[in-house]
This record gives sequence, C-alpha cells and structure tokens, in this order.
Amino acid sequence: MSTVLEIADLKRLAQRRVPKMFFDYADSGAWTESTYRANESDFAKIKLRQRVLVDMTDRSLASTMIGQNVAMPVALSPTGLAGMQHADGEILAAQAAAEFGVPFTLSTMSICSIEDVAEATKKPFWFQLYVMKDRDFVRNLIERAKAAGCSALVLTLDLQILGQRHKDLRNGLSAPPKFTPKHIWQMMTRPQWCLGMMGTQRRTFRNIAGHAKGVSDLSSLSSWTAEQFDPKLNWDDVEWIKNLWGGPLILKGILDEEDALMAAKTGADAIIVSNHGGRQLDGAPSSISMLPRIVDTVGDKVEIHLDGGIRSGQDVLKAVALGAKGTYIGRPFLYGLGAMGKAGVTKALEIIAREADVTMALCGKRRITDVDASILHKD
Ligand SMILES: Cc1cc2nc3c(=O)[nH]c(=O)nc-3n(C[C@H](O)[C@H](O)[C@H](O)COP(=O)(O)O)c2cc1C
Repeated sequence: MSTVLEIADLKRLAQRRVPKMFFDYADSGAWTESTYRANESDFAKIKLRQRVLVDMTDRSLASTMIGQNVAMPVALSPTGLAGMQHADGEILAAQAAAEFGVPFTLSTMSICSIEDVAEATKKPFWFQLYVMKDRDFVRNLIERAKAAGCSALVLTLDLQILGQRHKDLRNGLSAPPKFTPKHIWQMMTRPQWCLGMMGTQRRTFRNIAGHAKGVSDLSSLSSWTAEQFDPKLNWDDVEWIKNLWGGPLILKGILDEEDALMAAKTGADAIIVSNHGGRQLDGAPSSISMLPRIVDTVGDKVEIHLDGGIRSGQDVLKAVALGAKGTYIGRPFLYGLGAMGKAGVTKALEIIAREADVTMALCGKRRITDVDASILHKD
C-alpha cells in the first residue's frame, strides 16, 4: 500500500476501492459544488502566526464538547449510507472513534441501525435525527436512541427538502434505486468491497426498515424516505423534540446570524455552523467564513461547533481559534472508511491529531483549550 500521510491519500485509495456511485455520493456537493469547494478553500485563506522560543513540551489536544471529554475536539459527522463505503461502515467508524476518544454520530439514514452500533460498541455514541413527516416514527426513533444510551441528539435543521447533486442523478443513485448493468460492473470491479458486502446482512436503511409503516422492500423504503423529509419543520418542532429527548441537544445546520439567535433561544447545548458539507444550498457561504459572525452574535449564549471543509489538523485549529469549541469531519472519515475500513478511520483521526498537535506547537501553544484568535494573522 502506498504511504498514507494526509487525508488526500485516503481519498485516492477510497476512489480505487469503493464503487463509483458510492464514492461519488460522498465526494459531491449540490449543483455547481461552489459551496462544497469554498468550504475547503476558505480555510487556506486563513494564515497562522509562527512563534518561536516558546516552551512546546507537554502538549494536549484534550478538550470537551457539550461537557463530554474528547481526546481532541473533532467528532465524526453523521453521514447517510456510510455502510455503503465499506461493509458495516457505521459499526467500524463508531469503534474507531470510541477507541480514539472522539464522538461518533450515527445518521438517521445509516445502514447499520442504532441497535447494531450499540451492540458493537462499549462507549455511548451520538444520534442524528431527521424529523420525518411520520411523527410516530420520529417518537420511536428517539426512544430507540435513548434505549441505546446515546449521549447526545444532533438535530439536523437544513434538510427540509433535498438539495440536488448532479453526480448522484447521473449515477442513478435515486429513490427508488435503479440497478443497471453499469452498477453491477462498478461493483464487480471492486472485488474487496463486494466480498465485504457479501459477508454482511446490513445492506439497507436499518433504522427505517421494519420500523416505518408501509415499508416492505427496498423500493418502497427508498420512496418512503424521499417523501418523508418535512418541508413544514419549524421552531416549535425543535421544542417538541427537545422535550421528547430530554438530554443533550445539538442543532445542526445553522449558517445565518438570525437563525443562530433563534437556535440559542431554544436552550440547545450547542449549535453546529454548517451548510451540510455543501450538499444543500449551493451558493451559500462556506461554514468557516460564517463562523466569526455567528460567534459574535451568540458565542456568549450557546456552545458553537463547526463542520464543512475540514481536511487537516490545521483546519481544526483555525476553527477553534475563531471560536468553535468543537468540529466535525464528514468526508475525511468516509474516505478512510472506504480506503481501509476501521483502520482507515483511525488513520484519518491520527493524521488530523498529528497535524493539529504540530501546528499548535509551532504557533506557540501547548493546549488546544488555550488556542484563540492570537494564533491567527489579523490581515
Ligand atoms: C456522504 C454524506 C452523507 C451525509 N449524510 C448526512 C446525514 O445523514 N445527516 C446529516 O445531518 N448530515 C449528513 N451529511 C452532512 C455531514 O454531517 C456534514 O455536515 C458534512 O459532511 C461536513 O462537511 P465535510 O464532509 O466537508 O467534513 C452528509 C455528508 C456526506 C458527505
């Protein structure tokens, strides 16, 4: 295997090992993908201050997110179909995250179910909720997350309707899925992936299958799912969910100061500044460019997290310096998963931790909890 030094190496490996339609599903954004690109490229515009002759011994990336200890302030984002990047993907990623000491967030649209992940891991994980029109199903999901001991609920607010990704449509990754000879060929040319998939029963949306009314096969399941996102979702629903859940709540998908104020008023434990990794509103600004304004507006009222475009430990430090108490990685861990399963997710976390640690030292800081805007150039 070629040397893996950075997240881009894992991405290249994943591209070779994951069937094209699923690799593209991860590596795509809405429409022209301008927001997806900006999420990454805006990090590069932020410059770090190089410091010298500062004591750099005894460094630590340890911190907290919503009061929970983390080995570094980097959680794994909820991502649908992670179990299609690699067989049993969510279980493997959850195990890697738990061993590393960072939170794993299971998506509503996962392949492995809440119960599958709970059974295969020892530490509590976080659960991400999409509010579906079928509120009985939502109530039941929340109960299942509680029963599984999930230690936070991440409520996604920016997917009332689905953004369009051209790559997915061109690949025929639609609801219901259309399996053509092209797909079969894409899978056959990835024999390791196929072997993994043949060795698991987990090949459908297991949080939904068997739990939603009127869902019997893959076709009805996909159609149900596509129709279930609720365009009427509103702030009263957030209150309803908060009361039903009763535990730590994180609101995901805030990109605007006015929405941040509304979100802070709900009493949630944290908000995630996010544009869904550039997969929803193409043309929206990058997450990192909006972070300082949102911190100015509600930084004294609620804990602020950020996702979107983090590809290195340097990016993590920049987000922390601009006021994020925590960050999340989506594609970096999916690339690791597609490339090498659990070992690849661990590798992604190790790469990011090492980069964050060295960068922190060269900026003259020893603890990530002391990192602030002083590590950044002002102009
Ligand atoms: C393949 C993929 C699937 C995703 N599925 C979900 C999901 O089910 N729920 C959700 O809240 N966000 C989902 N997201 C968005 C991520 O949680 C996160 O906001 C985004 O990936 C962060 O950007 P990054 O990939 O640049 O790190 C998904 C992102 C990707 C790439």
